[in-house]
Amino acid sequence: MDEYKKINEASAQIKAILNDNGCDQHVDTFIALGSGLGPFADTFEQSLKISNKDLPHFPTTTVQGHAGEIVISKINDKVCMFQKGRLHAYEGHSYNDVIRPLRIARNLGAKTLILTNAAGGINPSYSPGDLVLIKDHINLSGRNPLVGKNIDELGPRFPDLSEVYSYKLMNDTKKIAQDNKILVKEGVYIHVSGPSYETPAEIRMFAKLGADMVGMSTVPEAIAGKHCDMNILGISCITNYAAGIVNQKLTHEDVQDVAKKTMEKFSNLLNLILTKL
Ligand code: HPA
Repeated sequence: MDEYKKINEASAQIKAILNDNGCDQHVDTFIALGSGLGPFADTFEQSLKISNKDLPHFPTTTVQGHAGEIVISKINDKVCMFQKGRLHAYEGHSYNDVIRPLRIARNLGAKTLILTNAAGGINPSYSPGDLVLIKDHINLSGRNPLVGKNIDELGPRFPDLSEVYSYKLMNDTKKIAQDNKILVKEGVYIHVSGPSYETPAEIRMFAKLGADMVGMSTVPEAIAGKHCDMNILGISCITNYAAGIVNQKLTHEDVQDVAKKTMEKFSNLLNLILTKL
């Protein structure tokens, strides 16, 4: 089926569910919650939860620590749509599957895209538990989510990526963090396809390329979000030292554990962003 038709069908279904529940039929902000951050979406009273299973063309995820549902909540007059259970290409999902949820949100009116993730720290000044605003990215996956027929209704064939992550959103977030004594750093995120973690030699190369942190998500969504003219904020939670930075093996469990421990700080920041932006 035509990709744009899938986006429209899923949007129509969400609109119908919002209507049945007496809610506004539009979305202002789409937030993708990374590893361990899913429970943040459950902290809002009066939210509407829709299982991915109940939506057409909404694939379900297979990664531990992710639940497949969207949560819609009104926060200070802004309708926020949270994606719990990020989809990754390494699970075998097509890029269209990975980026469809944010495109659906865009179709429902969302202009702001907040992407959160867990990442390995390459910059020697980073420690596990740090929050880092993504100021730019390097796409090292060798793939681009926009390959294929362009959906002209969404955006141009050759989108400009000279400011993927909105300087304004980043500066506003820095100010909010400072005012609330939450330490945030900023850095360049390098995207790899995964699912294996990197070798120490790869991490040394990434450092030379100018990367501060590494991860397996976010960049496909950021490219797609920019394509359909969204204002993007990216935040990484450093869950581990990248391979070879310290003499320690990497496990998904440790990554999730640090993500969980950092959730309170991350949630506080996200809450402030969503109420103040
Ligand atoms: N590498 C890639 N992806 C990651 C890492 C890492 O070290 N930590 C969390 N996600």
